[in-house]
Amino acid sequence: MQRNTDIPRKTALITGATSGIGEALMQELLASNTEVYAIVSPHSAQHASVLKRYAVNVYPIDLGDLSQVASQIGKLYKRLSSIDFLVHVAGVYHYGEKVYSDIKFEDYQMDELSNIMNVGYSSFTVITHKLLPKLTSGARIIGISGTFSSAQGWLPYYMSKKNLESFIIGLADELKARNITANCISPGDTITPSYQRFFPEYATEEYAITPADIGAIFKFLLSEPARYVTGQIITVRK
Ligand SMILES: NC(=O)c1ccc[n+]([C@@H]2O[C@H](COP(=O)([O-])OP(=O)(O)OC[C@H]3O[C@@H](n4cnc5c(N)ncnc54)[C@H](OP(=O)(O)O)[C@@H]3O)[C@@H](O)[C@H]2O)c1
Repeated sequence: MQRNTDIPRKTALITGATSGIGEALMQELLASNTEVYAIVSPHSAQHASVLKRYAVNVYPIDLGDLSQVASQIGKLYKRLSSIDFLVHVAGVYHYGEKVYSDIKFEDYQMDELSNIMNVGYSSFTVITHKLLPKLTSGARIIGISGTFSSAQGWLPYYMSKKNLESFIIGLADELKARNITANCISPGDTITPSYQRFFPEYATEEYAITPADIGAIFKFLLSEPARYVTGQIITVRK
């Protein structure tokens, strides 16, 4: 991808860049002359093939393991002099062959509950806690949450997204004085490779948006005109 060198070089840290949505957001970052640091799961066989196409710095960290997150993010803290964009896309609505829908709360395994919450929400609190001192004035914090017609059947995933939204709204208030904005984009059904795999019947233009639709809102949130947009949950859905 061609860099726009008229824009001053910025630095971004993004999780979940291997996903359909994360890849679209990473493309927006790279198009705006940003050096990208991507946290990917060490277990993922996919990330190499997705990220090989882009000039990004890859950091394997298991976001499901909070002690690993805390120790590895300390290394990133030393490596990065400043951060302009902090972006959390990683989330868990499936694992292996299993999709976390239509499951009663009592039927979830404890390790499933902690993985869904840690990847989707808690890991981001650890990352943010450590990296806040590195955020520049004018920095943007952006999370990808999710829009639901009901929590039923995927309560842990729903909780991970609602907690992420609450955290980001809270950060927006706290960081106003530092001129840092914090927002969530909350997509409805989105046609990504994972979504197509587990919900092929809904992965159509009739029901679902595309990662590029989310990328367009993301691009706006990175921009100068969005400097006073903060504490918002921006729903994007069909
Ligand atoms: N598709 C939709 O309809 C939809 C709608 C609303 C919200 N969302 C949200 O948008 C995000 C991306 O969705 P998608 O459909 O593109 O999903 P996806 O392909 O399942 O993406 C999940 C992402 O989370 C990362 N991840 C999972 N476990 C991890 C771990 N232990 N450590 C580090 N990273 C981990 C994955 O990285 P690796 O590949 O490295 O494992 C991957 O990049 C998710 O948060 C999802 O909840 C999706």
